[in-house]
Amino acid sequence: MDVQVVNCMTCEEFVRVFGNVVERCPLIAAALWSRRPFSSTLELENGFNEFIDSLSIEGKEGILRCHPDLAGRELLAGTLTVESRGEQGQAGLTSLSSADALRMNQLNSQYKEQFGFPFVICARMSDKDRILQQLESRVRNQQLQELQCDIEEVKSICRLRLQDIYNRAAKSTK
Ligand code: GUN
Repeated sequence: MDVQVVNCMTCEEFVRVFGNVVERCPLIAAALWSRRPFSSTLELENGFNEFIDSLSIEGKEGILRCHPDLAGRELLAGTLTVESRGEQGQAGLTSLSSADALRMNQLNSQYKEQFGFPFVICARMSDKDRILQQLESRVRNQQLQELQCDIEEVKSICRLRLQDIYNRAAKSTK
C-alpha cells in the first residue's frame, strides 16, 4: 500500500483499515489519523509504537486487557477477531490436545491473577511449546518488567498486522 493512499483516507476508512492493528483498540488508529501526512509506512508503524509508549501504566494495562486469552474461551466460542483467530491458528493453538489446552488455561489464569492483565505474546513468532514455556517463566517476573514485556509483544503483533494490510493491498492492485 502506497503511503499516499493512506494519507488520502478519511478517518472512517483509516479506522476500518487500521482499527485492529492494536487488538480491539480502534481509538489508537483514530488518534493516529490526526498525524497525517505520513512520509512512509514505517512512519505509521512508528506512530503506533510511540502512541503505545506514551501511555500511562493504566493505559498500557488497558491495551493488554483488550487482548483475549490465548486458547481461551473466545477461541472456543468463535468470538475472536479475524486477526487473533489467524494468529492463534498459525501458532497451533486451534488444535491443542486437551492436556495442553488445560495447562494453557491454568497458566493464563495464574498469570492474570498475578498481574491483573492477560499474558500477551506475538503468537505468530511462536508455537505451542514456546508459549507454554514463556507463560511458565514470565509469571515469575516483576510487575513492571512484565508490563513492558507484554507491551513489546503488542508492538511485534502490530508490525505483523501492518505488514498483512500492506501485502493484501499490494495483491489486490496486481
Ligand atoms: N498474540 C497474538 N494475538 C494475540 C491475542 O489475540 N491475544 C493474546 N493474548 N496474545 C496474542
